[in-house]
Amino acid sequence: MIELAFSILASDFAHLADEVAAAERGGGTIVHVDVMDGHFVPNITFGPPMVQALRPITKLPLDCHLMIDNPDAFIPEFAAAGANMISVHQEVCRHLHRTLQLIADHGVQPAVVINPATPVETLIEVLPMVHHVLVMSVNPGFGGQKFLPLALDKIAYLAELREALDLNFRIEVDGGIANDTVADVVEAGADMLVAGSAIFHSGSAEQNARKFLELARA
Ligand code: DX5
Ligand code: ZN
Repeated sequence: MIELAFSILASDFAHLADEVAAAERGGGTIVHVDVMDGHFVPNITFGPPMVQALRPITKLPLDCHLMIDNPDAFIPEFAAAGANMISVHQEVCRHLHRTLQLIADHGVQPAVVINPATPVETLIEVLPMVHHVLVMSVNPGFGGQKFLPLALDKIAYLAELREALDLNFRIEVDGGIANDTVADVVEAGADMLVAGSAIFHSGSAEQNARKFLELARA
């Protein structure tokens, strides 16, 4: 099943509940929450209180993408705030297996993220324990960047590995995905599509989400 994980980073924070409801009416099924710490990435966004604020306004799963240096220190708080999925960057985890286990121990679905310059091979040993792998198709830190086509081969490679190893993790892609890039991403094998600007930047989030999914599932 191809799903839209809409990134609230691009939404109007003053009307967050309405924005989430609109994207959900348009068919979005996952709320993607971009957590940035000003260290791992050159931007600051929000933390566990945002997850806590989102929890009562939607039944959709909250997919927390932690772009932070020390995820282990914050995983318990994100779990308590109501996260359903937590993804951590391979690049900051000295003990990746331990961190993914920590997420699972808190009853949250664990996931791992790789930056554009990080090879898929660095994940092979942990693939059996993740709910999904998130392939960055931009360098993390900001919404509205241009899609990097190098992500396509990585998605295809992950899909191959999933088949060869008889696993069932999902493949999520994040950054620069819009109506003109979504078909390529799906064709490569992705099934969780993150989109921020494409959904929230202009017009109606509901209609944007509907159109996006129509193109994704065509
Ligand atoms: C980038 C974030 C993305 C971002 C996507 O660091 O991880 O989730 O919000 O935004 P768009 O869809 O605008 O590229
Ligand atoms: Zn993200």
